[in-house]
Amino acid sequence: MAQSPVVQSRSAYAAAAPAGAPTLEVRNLQTHFFTRAGVVKAVDGVSFTVGRGKVLGLVGESGSGKTVTGFSILGLVDAPGRVVGGEILFHGQNLASLREEEMRRLRGNRIAMIFQDPMMTLNPVLRVDTQMIETVQAHEKVSREVARQRARDTLGLVGIPSPDERLKSYPHQFSGGMRQRVAIAIALLHRPELIVADEPTTALDVTIQAQILAEVQKLCAETGTAMIWITHDLSVVAGLADDIAVMYAGKVVERGPVSEVLDTPLHPYTEGLIGSVPSRNKRGEPLRQIPGMTPSLLSLPQGCAFQSRCPKAADICHQTPSLERLLPERDARCFRPHLPEAAA
Ligand SMILES: Nc1ncnc2c1ncn2[C@@H]1O[C@H](COP(=O)(O)OP(=O)(O)OP(=O)(O)O)[C@@H](O)[C@H]1O
Ligand code: SF4
Ligand SMILES: [Mg+2]
Repeated sequence: MAQSPVVQSRSAYAAAAPAGAPTLEVRNLQTHFFTRAGVVKAVDGVSFTVGRGKVLGLVGESGSGKTVTGFSILGLVDAPGRVVGGEILFHGQNLASLREEEMRRLRGNRIAMIFQDPMMTLNPVLRVDTQMIETVQAHEKVSREVARQRARDTLGLVGIPSPDERLKSYPHQFSGGMRQRVAIAIALLHRPELIVADEPTTALDVTIQAQILAEVQKLCAETGTAMIWITHDLSVVAGLADDIAVMYAGKVVERGPVSEVLDTPLHPYTEGLIGSVPSRNKRGEPLRQIPGMTPSLLSLPQGCAFQSRCPKAADICHQTPSLERLLPERDARCFRPHLPEAAA
């Protein structure tokens, strides 16, 4: 199959990247908000790795710290928030120590973000071609014609029919799904080495969502782009991601290869999340919602943050569990994990 020019030039670039190094390694990231009510530890010990061409699904209930993690990687956390600890190693370089100017250069060039609302990326008063051409020319010295061609190829890549005509449209002339594809295309324009996508398909129709996910997955595999896909929807992660990191109250509580984690979750919270996915329940059986609510980050209990909702909670859970390697490639933060019998 012939590769598109977008894919070809990205591959040439990727070949120059150091072999073997993961694209991104986040180590013990801590991002806190210094509010009047107290210090909100929105991200408080997040670690994961994303390799070239791999997709990491970052999941967890609302308020678990997924977006703040994504924003921290991109250097987009605003006051009263601040990254207060840990490392964000992009090809081994710690992004947390870069100056704003250096970070801005990386964003939209080697690292891109796709937001849930495409209008965070798109300018409503400019035609799509103007926006895309300007984006290309802001980072590369190429002619308008070359930039236009890149824009057209990239729209084609995310499955927008008649890209030449669509380039002349304004964002409001696209349907919601198409508008999100345009935002994704803009994120792809520079063949970034890393994309952080924050629930970009959640508001879309299931069929369109599936199409976009298939295209994104193909693209990552072809171009070597690493991707963090943030979602609360486990069925999206099941079909798209290679690895999964499950967050609860600002911490990663479980991580590992996606099929293994979904088949045999080690952490009671992961198990609860899986139990609450409709398609995983037998027909006619009620959904098993995780009891209780996510605790306020300002008044977390002593010890494991999940204890008030956990069916396996015991005295030891008043102590603080750390993320431990329990099986090959499988980590969990729990004193009483569900270990398969052979391993227990
Ligand atoms: N500007 C802010 N000021 C104070 N606290 C904040 C601020 N932004 C985020 N937080 C805190 O960080 C926590 C995590 O927020 P985040 O947006 O990362 O959650 P999320 O996992 O992305 O949730 P959702 O699924 O709803 O998008 C929130 O519960 C909130 O307590
Ligand atoms: S540490 Fe205890 S309370 Fe926390 S998830 Fe494990 S068993 Fe449940
Ligand atoms: Mg969010």
